Amino acid sequence: MPQNDIPVVTIDGPTASGKGTVAQKVARTLGFHYLDSGALYRLTALSALRRNVALTDEHALAKLAEHLPCTFNGEHVLLANEDVSNAIRAEEVGNAASKIAALPALRQALFGLQLRFRRTPGLVADGRDMGTVLFPHAPLKVFLTASVDARAQRRYKQLIDKGFSANIEDLRKDLSERDARDANRTIAPLKPAEGAYLLDTSDITAEQAVQRVLGWYFSQSAADMQR
Ligand code: CDP
Repeated sequence: MPQNDIPVVTIDGPTASGKGTVAQKVARTLGFHYLDSGALYRLTALSALRRNVALTDEHALAKLAEHLPCTFNGEHVLLANEDVSNAIRAEEVGNAASKIAALPALRQALFGLQLRFRRTPGLVADGRDMGTVLFPHAPLKVFLTASVDARAQRRYKQLIDKGFSANIEDLRKDLSERDARDANRTIAPLKPAEGAYLLDTSDITAEQAVQRVLGWYFSQSAADMQR
């Protein structure tokens, strides 16, 4: 099948909007591959922090990203041979990821790597620019949102469950700062793609969000078959 015909569902949205959980469940139900594009930014940030590469050194960061020795193995993310699945979830790493994500050379370095995740039978891609930049012709594009309060609560629970300490007020502040940085950067800013379905998850469960996305996917596929 030509690569451009392989179905893609893009799920973009701000931090802690539930994208990851929803995207993984949709991928599992459809039997599709899953791209956690944020993990690539987090892996680059973790490598930079460990090697003391300045978060403003665009050239060095792009080099790191280009040669990122990462492997995705189910729920596990490896950097070289180390399991960094938990380490990349630290808030410090997330904040560093959001800073370096504003650098064009770094985004370019990760571009081809992300496209290669589009393999049969299909892909669910989660991030900020999956529908706007990476897969603008995807048959289904979704933009998830949720209130700052709902997102701060979710991130708090996620961090505590992973054994990190967390403070809800600090998280709220971090979320708002990260939103502003992601939405206001000049390259690939966070915004709904053209034709994206908007879904506010503040008052619905992850399972309800998954059902909504699957419903859109199946009705889109049925409409495509009639064409
Ligand atoms: O889990 P959370 O939503 O906080 O973040 P993430 O999806 O793991 O992404 C971490 C950071 O990488 C975000 O704050 C974005 O700045 C950046 N990112 C991006 O610029 N483009 C993407 N496609 C994915 C993530």
